[in-house]
Amino acid sequence: MAGPSVAVPNLVDPKSYVDRDMFEVWRTLRAQDPVHWHAATSEGPGFWVLSKYEDIVRVLKDDANFTSEKGNILETMLKGGDMGAGSMLAVSDGSYHTSLRKVLLEAFSPRAVAKVARHVRRIAKDLVVEAAEKGECDFARDIASAIPLETICDLLDIPQGDRQEVAKLTKSALASDYEHPDAHADVAARSAIVVYFQNLVAERRRSPGADPISLMATAEVEGRRLQDLDIVLNCYSLIMGGDETSRLSMIGAVRAFVQNPGQWKTLKSRDVSVDVAGEEVLRWTTPAMHFGRVATADVGLRDDRVIKAGDLVTLWLISGNRDEAVFQDPDRFDIARTPNRHLALGYGRHFCLGASLGRIEIRAMLDALRVFVGEIRQTGPERWIYSNFLTGMSSLPVALERDPSPAVSWEE
Ligand code: HEM
Repeated sequence: MAGPSVAVPNLVDPKSYVDRDMFEVWRTLRAQDPVHWHAATSEGPGFWVLSKYEDIVRVLKDDANFTSEKGNILETMLKGGDMGAGSMLAVSDGSYHTSLRKVLLEAFSPRAVAKVARHVRRIAKDLVVEAAEKGECDFARDIASAIPLETICDLLDIPQGDRQEVAKLTKSALASDYEHPDAHADVAARSAIVVYFQNLVAERRRSPGADPISLMATAEVEGRRLQDLDIVLNCYSLIMGGDETSRLSMIGAVRAFVQNPGQWKTLKSRDVSVDVAGEEVLRWTTPAMHFGRVATADVGLRDDRVIKAGDLVTLWLISGNRDEAVFQDPDRFDIARTPNRHLALGYGRHFCLGASLGRIEIRAMLDALRVFVGEIRQTGPERWIYSNFLTGMSSLPVALERDPSPAVSWEE
């Protein structure tokens, strides 16, 4: 199984991602050992590490030989599975997945999402203007953290009066304040969210609307009604899936502009649309570093590698998005990059369900920044989160200087 000996840190340990330049590690792996075998750790068995775009796409396309039902991220795959397997969209396969995805896609239709988009733009504008008037802020805490959860609450049609509580519980359940890496997610908060959604499901069964909860409560999946627990798990996954990823992308965008003032000028000049720039933000930040699959049959890769049935395979989107075989000058943040077939939102049948929503949030933020902010300066050290799955910052102190005479106007 052993390939060339490349010094790869323990990819299970979140500390590995804080301590070193991981882009250097990925570059070396892509060049020397693109299908790398990672030895077993105290957390679980060994696993494959795929770092090249082509191989990642090859696996993500191959539903016949790879499953998501044994978990789709390292943490759950190493534990031997996900408690939502076969029920939650992201960790289900086959006809159940196809059927549930079809139901949920209706809630993400352009019409449904357009309504949410107007609200997202209003929040982004208000937060950016307020911060620019104050002068200094923590972009992560004061601006980016407010948008994604509010957006998902809009989509799920969570009553306004409940939102503060839902936000509080979500924050505790995720233990997403990475200042204390040993802090454990609050189990009580997780149970409270489950109870909250159980009540909401009962209500939506009685008087359904057009939101995803109502759709799941009334539709048939594989010819039968979904159980309450299936719906609750999927609500939970929509909140978790959509909160941190979009937030980390927006924060990463601001840091990229601080580090690349020429690109900030280009954004402000309006030479590049926020749609095109948003794709480069996604490629550059790739907040979900990896996803994974478990092989269900022996599969040959790259002439000399055989992935055996039962093997865990991790797919490093963050490395694929810097693959020099696909992206010209991949380590350059270039908001005009086209084409930009990045993998930040996945590929194939599990392609991100909330992609349109994530894109709306990033585009709204870029638009608010370019219209209302003249200059951005970082005023203190950023803090990186502590995770083997997500990457990004939990704190980014910046000075936002209000643009006294914006060259473009704001469209509501
Ligand atoms: C910038 C923001 C986002 C990023 C980078 C992102 C990334 C991803 C990726 C890479 C996958 C594929 C997982 C796999 O192949 O196993 C995925 C799936 C998924 N995402 Fe997102 N996501 C984002 C925003 C959202 C939002 C806003 C929502 C919900 C409101 C969401 C909900 C989901 C769901 C439910 C799936 C599973 C889809 C399926 O299995 O068919 N995501 N996401």
